[in-house]
Amino acid sequence: MPAPRKINEKKKARGTPPTLFARLNARVSLQAQADGSMAAHFDDYSEPLGKFSAVAVERAQQLPTGLPLSAAAPDGDAVERDIERLIRQLARRGLLEYRLGGARADDDLVVIEPQLPDYWPRTPKLTDATTIVLSRFAYMRRRGAEMVLESPRAGALFRIRDAGIAALLTALATPHKISQIRRQDRYRGPALLALLLDCHILVEADAADRDTLRQAEGDDGLVLWDFHDLLFHTRSTEGRQANPLGGLYPHTGLIAPLPAIRPAWPGKTIKLPDSDRIASALERLLHDRHSTRDFDDRKPITLAELAAFLNNVARVRAKWSSPLEFADDGPDIEYTSRPYPAAGSAYELELYLAVGNCDGLTPGLYHYDADAHALVAIDVRPQHLEAMMQSAVFAMDASSRPQILITIAARFGRISWKYSAIAYALILKDVGALTQTLYLAATDLGLGGCAIGTTNIDLFAKMTGLDFHVEGPVGQFALGRGIAPSAPA
Ligand SMILES: Cc1cc2nc3c(=O)[nH]c(=O)nc-3n(C[C@H](O)[C@H](O)[C@H](O)COP(=O)(O)O)c2cc1C
Repeated sequence: MPAPRKINEKKKARGTPPTLFARLNARVSLQAQADGSMAAHFDDYSEPLGKFSAVAVERAQQLPTGLPLSAAAPDGDAVERDIERLIRQLARRGLLEYRLGGARADDDLVVIEPQLPDYWPRTPKLTDATTIVLSRFAYMRRRGAEMVLESPRAGALFRIRDAGIAALLTALATPHKISQIRRQDRYRGPALLALLLDCHILVEADAADRDTLRQAEGDDGLVLWDFHDLLFHTRSTEGRQANPLGGLYPHTGLIAPLPAIRPAWPGKTIKLPDSDRIASALERLLHDRHSTRDFDDRKPITLAELAAFLNNVARVRAKWSSPLEFADDGPDIEYTSRPYPAAGSAYELELYLAVGNCDGLTPGLYHYDADAHALVAIDVRPQHLEAMMQSAVFAMDASSRPQILITIAARFGRISWKYSAIAYALILKDVGALTQTLYLAATDLGLGGCAIGTTNIDLFAKMTGLDFHVEGPVGQFALGRGIAPSAPA
């Protein structure tokens, strides 16, 4: 047996290594029945969590202050598996956080708030030779009275409770070996570094080569993203964040709502002639276009109508390639032309159709191959398809599922390969141009549709197997045959 190593004074000052605990959010309480069924109570809700063993129920009493995560393991004994199941149930519902710190409930180094529903804190083994560096997507900011460390790549955010960690992160702007970090006063043990590495807030750098740090971040898909664009994407969609989202009126009572119509400028006013004529087909379409949220399931859209719709809005009209502007040695770039306008003729947007009720087409998820004018089936789990449909129903406050739910996804790299700083903004502008085209084409065919402002990028990634930063949703549109307005009595 090796002789125990002498603990030097510096190590003593740092104290015992911090422990990882799972802890209930402050507003949540647990209740257990005699048969082992547990429920979480928060606000006015009660969420059943399932049945657990008597030992697990007893250990769960520690959750309000912190239950050591070592008590939970998917491949441990029956009690550890039970506790892991309970923690996952709570985490999936956003009712739980993790703390890394000492045994005292207020002795936190960091508090970890899951952002992905299936986040589980992992501490991969680090060797002295491992070289790590701060991800260029990581950032720290004040949130209320706390300092938070976040990244659009991370499955969780870290509330920083120890100023030494901020200093350590500053040093990690350049690559360091673990052996170098361990010698620093602000070193807080391997668990924190491992947790940050697991969340891609720290990344492994093969060599201390500053020129290849952008590549060290991961695949080419990540190299192509600007920092603010990836942050904007993950923070303005559902799936990879746990922040409140949508029409929540957060400023009610604090700031008055702005008027619907801008107050007129005080300058000279030139009154324009009225034109309420509807002479052209376009004028008719613009006049008739409106949002349809409820669909007639006795008269589903037909495959022929869907084919005409897709042909009119998104089919490739022409293809060509041309050399890179301003460079003699650049690659030839391929272009297409399609019915709606697109920045740089990049046409980075793809249509994925969740088919619920279409005459002539089996329900499921399909990709529209805009070149071949064909639908390609994608094998997805029925519960994922249903979750996608249900979030559209919720967003539209609709009475039933749309007959077809179109997800507009972007191949991000197609546009960011060319445009710096404005890539994501251009994508959203393209979504706007396409959305109006979808509305007008639906109206023209006597169909109904409605744009949807929210999309779940994590769900789409699970359904398609595509990395969220490579190709993912940036818009949605419900389509079908609207319920005919009832005739006046
Ligand atoms: C970008 C965008 C996002 C929208 N998101 C939603 C949505 O999530 N839910 C919904 O019911 N309607 C949504 N709409 C539809 C608008 O509510 C609708 O266009 C607006 O009320 C005007 O009504 P109209 O389309 O019938 O003229 C969205 C429209 C746009 C352009």
